[in-house]
Amino acid sequence: MFPDLIKRPRRIRNSNIRDLVKESQLSVDDLIYPLFVVHGEGIKEEIPSMPGNYHWSLDLVMDEIEELVDLGIKAVILFGIPESKDPQGSNAWAEEGIVQQACQKIKEKYPELLVITDVCLCQYTDHGHCGILEDGKVKNDPTLELLAQTAVSHARAGADMVAPSDMMDGRVGAIRQGLDENGFEDVSIMAYSAKYASSFYGPFRDAAHSAPQEGDRRSYQMDPANSREAIKETALDIEEGADIVMVKPALSYLDIIKEIKEEFNYPVAAYNVSGEFSLIKAATEKGWVNEKEIVLEMLLSMKRAGTDLILTYFAKDVAEWLREE
Ligand code: PBG
Repeated sequence: MFPDLIKRPRRIRNSNIRDLVKESQLSVDDLIYPLFVVHGEGIKEEIPSMPGNYHWSLDLVMDEIEELVDLGIKAVILFGIPESKDPQGSNAWAEEGIVQQACQKIKEKYPELLVITDVCLCQYTDHGHCGILEDGKVKNDPTLELLAQTAVSHARAGADMVAPSDMMDGRVGAIRQGLDENGFEDVSIMAYSAKYASSFYGPFRDAAHSAPQEGDRRSYQMDPANSREAIKETALDIEEGADIVMVKPALSYLDIIKEIKEEFNYPVAAYNVSGEFSLIKAATEKGWVNEKEIVLEMLLSMKRAGTDLILTYFAKDVAEWLREE
């Protein structure tokens, strides 16, 4: 009458056992919070497609950082919005550039906070591409020098870690060399290694005013159809000196995270990008999903796939939710 069931997987799902057999866990230590900084004073302007995220002037961003630190968040990544753009993106490495000023100011008051900077030219070039443009083509090798110069200027301003997101070939090596030649051997590199040409960046490009004026980024960002390339890019970045490798976006690329973790057993970061954030925000506003539960489940899936660090616009909420539990 009864089936002869010796194996009953349900046994370990009892509430008193469940926690003991948990394989992955999300912690506030995993989180990196992205911040958008702008020139000026008294500016806290909400980004329409990314509710709860703002353009901050440096006077006001300090209050936000105090909140983050109080929540136990240990790392931020800075994105700058410059006052003016030109073909080379020279404000990316300007001594008084917005990210450089932000690093100085933040590290002065919060020396313990890990300050990471995004290294790219697209917010700074008038054409919106991540490298130098010649005859409608993004030129790889001449761009490397500018990226290295940008990374060095961030390090000089106090950045602890630089994160190249441009996807030019050889940028990690060029940046490592630039940093070392200038005495910044201790500044680490988190490489956007497997960065896909993704539609999930839409809200960010509104936020950072960095959409390409013409064409798209498919000549340098990876094809969503491919995974071999992700392995190749990551191997090169590690060879060139990356300390942490990143997969971006995260949610549609969990297979890539897993493959990279298994292949290299290296610290892996996942970028829970703007589009992934905004989809959940919009559905939450409609009352269609439970925001807290869905966000925690989503980030946990990244951990399960092999992620060590998560860059997420939900970091503050997550820190609060984890504290409640
Ligand atoms: C700059 C950069 C982008 C993002 C991070 N750095 C945009 C892009 O490559 O087009 C996207 C982040 C997000 O969508 O949250 N190259």
